Amino acid sequence: MSVFKHNSDYNILKADLITLSLELTHEDFKKVDFLLTKEFARGLKSTKDSTIKMYLTYVRSLPNNEERGQYLALDLGGTNFRVLLVEFNRDSSKIVDCVREAIPAKLRFGAGSDLFDFIAEHVVSFAIKHQLVGVRIALGFTFSFPLQQQGLAEAHLVTWTKSFNCAGVVGFDVVRLLKAALKRKMHKSIPYVDVVAIINDTTGTLIAGALKDKNCMIGLIVGTGANACYVEKLENLEKWPFNYSDPKQVVINTEFGAFGDNSVLDFVRTIWDRSLDAESVNSGKQVYEKMLSGMYLPEIFRRVLLTLIERGVLFNGHLPLELLRPNSISTKIMSDIDQDTNMENFTKTREAIKKLFPHCKFNEVDVKIVFMINNRITKRSAQMVATGIWALAKRIKQNEVSVAYDGALISLHPYFRVWVEEKLSQFINSNAPGKKIKLIQANDGSGLGAAIVAAVCYREKRPKIIKKRGKVYQITSFQTK
Ligand code: GLC
Repeated sequence: MSVFKHNSDYNILKADLITLSLELTHEDFKKVDFLLTKEFARGLKSTKDSTIKMYLTYVRSLPNNEERGQYLALDLGGTNFRVLLVEFNRDSSKIVDCVREAIPAKLRFGAGSDLFDFIAEHVVSFAIKHQLVGVRIALGFTFSFPLQQQGLAEAHLVTWTKSFNCAGVVGFDVVRLLKAALKRKMHKSIPYVDVVAIINDTTGTLIAGALKDKNCMIGLIVGTGANACYVEKLENLEKWPFNYSDPKQVVINTEFGAFGDNSVLDFVRTIWDRSLDAESVNSGKQVYEKMLSGMYLPEIFRRVLLTLIERGVLFNGHLPLELLRPNSISTKIMSDIDQDTNMENFTKTREAIKKLFPHCKFNEVDVKIVFMINNRITKRSAQMVATGIWALAKRIKQNEVSVAYDGALISLHPYFRVWVEEKLSQFINSNAPGKKIKLIQANDGSGLGAAIVAAVCYREKRPKIIKKRGKVYQITSFQTK
């Protein structure tokens, strides 16, 4: 329902009507939940026949605070990558140092070997800086893209998502590519960095959350991209390739951002969702993610504003030239605008308009319209995220489920988390009144989680190799709690 229902201003009513498709009803979300539930089940049966792939991560049980020593973590997933040195002591873990580097666009769209060389060079100089000379040091690699894993340290890239499209990586084992690049950069006297595990950022977040809360069963990222992982029972996994030893569970990386790639979400997609998708580098792919993650929301916003100006409903039909530039709006600006909830003076929205369009003349009504559009887009995203979490939480047969979350949009936005919780309560109240779903912030899960997995792998040293139907599978099981 529109917040401006009773406002008589004609332009507001017009803007309200034009953008009504961005407001979904609970019936719509129930349908999205139904479709997601169906697609999750399909993905668990077979990766090939589903749009939500439900990838096996080979992470079986969650950490138990027994890890000790220093480990490296490498986090690649956005336009920056990070190298971290993490130290585990008796009762705590601490990030000793962390460096962040921007990845130039030419590397994100160039040859894969150049990208891996660039990263390896930074890893090696980071190790040298910390005088890790002449030692063997384990590295956990957080690689936040869809991977078909064959073990904890073997993973083939299925497709690039977000703002990457490097040649010569899809279909290849990214651990091998990283190891090869490290080898090229490591010389005799300098450290031997051993890549022992690869995980997704959602898995890292789940692992970091599990250290704080024993009910933590879901890892969620809502940042540049959006995705979730959760702990599934082996008995529900037709595609689990081998033994059913304890713990009888495994973390599944859903890659739910691809939901809707088979058109099932078309009933809730707007003209702006469609035009954004059509002009994206991966058109037709990651449909759900494009409706909810930080990389795409500002572009939806920009497109809606353009439509309203074109229809003469906003800024008196005058087009600020800045609006023609793709990616000219940031998620931060959208979060700022959402702070104006008292709806009296709209200070933040006013400031945002001035900042975005310095030469634009605007009035009270324009401000209200900009606020309304922004709010509709971010709220729809939060409610979509909640629906995804609800569809996963239903699969977990315990009353209390905690969701560890990370990512700039959900962590830094003033109300995103509250909106997720509100929508979750709505689902819980009408379906499972006894269920409790708690959101917990897992700071830096994608860094810490990779280091923890590296530590556990290193402790266990020799992974078991299992051969089945002519294939070799590697598995490292963690100690149970
Ligand atoms: C994209 C990636 C996924 C990652 C998510 C959040 O959806 O495909 O692997 O977890 O972004 O970074």
